Amino acid sequence: MSTQPIISMQGISMRFVKPVDTAGKIANLLGAKNEPEVVHAVNNVNLDIMPGEVVGLVGESGCGKSTLGRVVAGVYSPSEGTILYNGQDFHKMGARGPTLETLAVQMIFQDPMASLNPRMRVLDIVGEAPVAHGLVDKKDMQDHVAQVLTRVGLDPVYMRRYPHQFSGGQRARIGIARALAVNPKFLVCDESVAALDVSIQAQVLNLFMDLRRELNLTYLFISHDLSVVRYLSDRVVIMYLGRVVESAPVQQMFEGPNHPYSQALLDNVPTLQNRKQRFSTIKGEIPSPLHPPSGCHFHPRCPKAGPRCQREEPKLRQLAPGHFSACHLNDGGTE
Ligand SMILES: Nc1ncnc2c1ncn2[C@@H]1O[C@H](COP(=O)(O)OP(=O)(O)O)[C@@H](O)[C@H]1O
Ligand code: SF4
Ligand SMILES: [Mg+2]
Repeated sequence: MSTQPIISMQGISMRFVKPVDTAGKIANLLGAKNEPEVVHAVNNVNLDIMPGEVVGLVGESGCGKSTLGRVVAGVYSPSEGTILYNGQDFHKMGARGPTLETLAVQMIFQDPMASLNPRMRVLDIVGEAPVAHGLVDKKDMQDHVAQVLTRVGLDPVYMRRYPHQFSGGQRARIGIARALAVNPKFLVCDESVAALDVSIQAQVLNLFMDLRRELNLTYLFISHDLSVVRYLSDRVVIMYLGRVVESAPVQQMFEGPNHPYSQALLDNVPTLQNRKQRFSTIKGEIPSPLHPPSGCHFHPRCPKAGPRCQREEPKLRQLAPGHFSACHLNDGGTE
């Protein structure tokens, strides 16, 4: 196995500025001092992904998973930091539009109905990008699309149909085919099976795993569903309010989570076979990323918090090979 990461996230931060709304502007005319608010969606994330790995990214809604996924896929340029693809600056490579290298990173979205153009035939949805970028001659487009559709388990005879003529599971496959059509090496899957029935989910997850083997793909697999992440990840990364709080090989993470947030999140994880329980509820509300708590972002909800947790941000420390956690309990305590 190569020792160079296929993707290296170095100090990635992403902030969104939320402009003052109309009510706020009117209030400002009357002397109030409303200023644009800044959402710290992703905060200094450092993460390497090795070729062939499946990394599961989890955390409660709003913790920054989709934003980080979009930065990695080149949809957003980060406010700070660099993404390296095979050692090269990914956003610089794509600065003048997609190149063969930047096409190697593709994103698969949650809702195929929203991301597939309803007025385009599957042939064009899947064939457009490879022809536009010169990967395939226009005259070979049909053959190429037929090949990709077959790979994702769809019968190419339907390539002239529109997205609404397919079932939810088939549309998910069309979304995957569209990404595969440009020969990607790295896929960011953002809640890619969340909208599907459980039995269909299992089929699509198996497809992802087959494709990984056949095409040597690497995945960043974003999901709020821990049973899915446990099923297909080699390594799990847990985010809380924009920061990575723990990262570990899948078995270590599920059998012995270190961070108090991970412990709360992973308590009573369902399996794919027994999915009645979802996330266990963690006491307290998720604080707003507009005003994240000082020190350790988790301190207002953490049963083990001490005075140091409010003062000082805990750093990720290595506990065992490949196992990192950011909690003061691993580093001198919380006093
Ligand atoms: N385009 C955007 N503009 C402003 N705020 C955003 C935007 N995208 C995400 N956010 C905010 O960033 C935070 C992280 O969102 P997101 O990455 O979607 O989290 P997740 O995928 O983990 O649910 C949330 O507070 C969200 O409201
Ligand atoms: S640093 Fe403190 S507040 Fe944060 S998880 Fe550890 S004990 Fe809890
Ligand atoms: Mg999301």
